[in-house]
Amino acid sequence: MSHRVLITGATSGLGKELAMQLANEGFMLALTGRREERLNELAQAVKGAGAGGVLTLTGNVADPAVVKRHYALIVERFRGLDWAILNAGISKSGDAKERFTADDYRLVYGVNVFGMANWIEAVLPDMLKEKSGTIAGVASVAGYRGLPRSGPYSSSKAAVIALLESLRVDLRGTGVKVVTVCPGFVRTEMTAKWKDEDMPFLMEPRDAVEIMIAGIKAGKRLVDFPWPFSTVVKYVVRNLPGCIYDRVASRGTRRRAK
Ligand SMILES: NC(=O)c1ccc[n+]([C@@H]2O[C@H](COP(=O)([O-])OP(=O)(O)OC[C@H]3O[C@@H](n4cnc5c(N)ncnc54)[C@H](OP(=O)(O)O)[C@@H]3O)[C@@H](O)[C@H]2O)c1
Repeated sequence: MSHRVLITGATSGLGKELAMQLANEGFMLALTGRREERLNELAQAVKGAGAGGVLTLTGNVADPAVVKRHYALIVERFRGLDWAILNAGISKSGDAKERFTADDYRLVYGVNVFGMANWIEAVLPDMLKEKSGTIAGVASVAGYRGLPRSGPYSSSKAAVIALLESLRVDLRGTGVKVVTVCPGFVRTEMTAKWKDEDMPFLMEPRDAVEIMIAGIKAGKRLVDFPWPFSTVVKYVVRNLPGCIYDRVASRGTRRRAK
């Protein structure tokens, strides 16, 4: 049987590109997102590209009841999953001096953190029973340190990095793998509002997704890219003493809207 893969947030950006590249390999795809029309168009495209089967699931990952219903449909149709790529995400930026609301945090955590946790809760029992499967969660290089003007997003991705690491440690020896994906800047709807020159090492979705798929297939613990950017953030920026980081980060270049 060909690989059965769930991709959350497949209606645009990285999720859509993942669907197209995995369709070329004949994978069976369960695709989620809130925009139904986009999902239907994508379903046609992945069928044309060679997908072994496609199931579209419209709804909000932040709603546990929706996720439970979607997983039941996946089991009915595919009898389980080999990979769950938990990619759905939103961002919110802005200077906390000008606006700080708990609602912004609730909104972003609801999708980025609880949306991922909802799906892990749904897929994990069957993967444990089967003693196989891969959960690949899309975090971000933005989760390595508290970024300026990005509190809700940056902290949600820090939570996701820790969530996935805890899960990986707990699942060691069970046969279920956990892959943490930390992209740098990628040209998608999420980054469309920013000027290109304010996003160092900006990548195209096709190149980013090739790296993601290779990393998931290899069962890597961490897939972060592009390597010059992620290496500097991971080993230099992350280890700067707080007093230096605060000064540098607060003076850092603002991402300017187009
Ligand atoms: N682009 C970058 O530079 C970058 C860098 C690092 C990490 N990432 C991460 O990569 C992932 C994909 O982002 P992207 O860049 O491809 O952005 P994107 O083009 O905006 O795609 C986001 C996807 O998530 C879905 N989504 C958002 N809220 C949802 C919800 N409540 N329920 C279900 N689906 C939802 C969207 O679909 P609907 O709107 O149809 O629901 C869309 O398909 C995100 O987790 C993002 O944080 C991106």
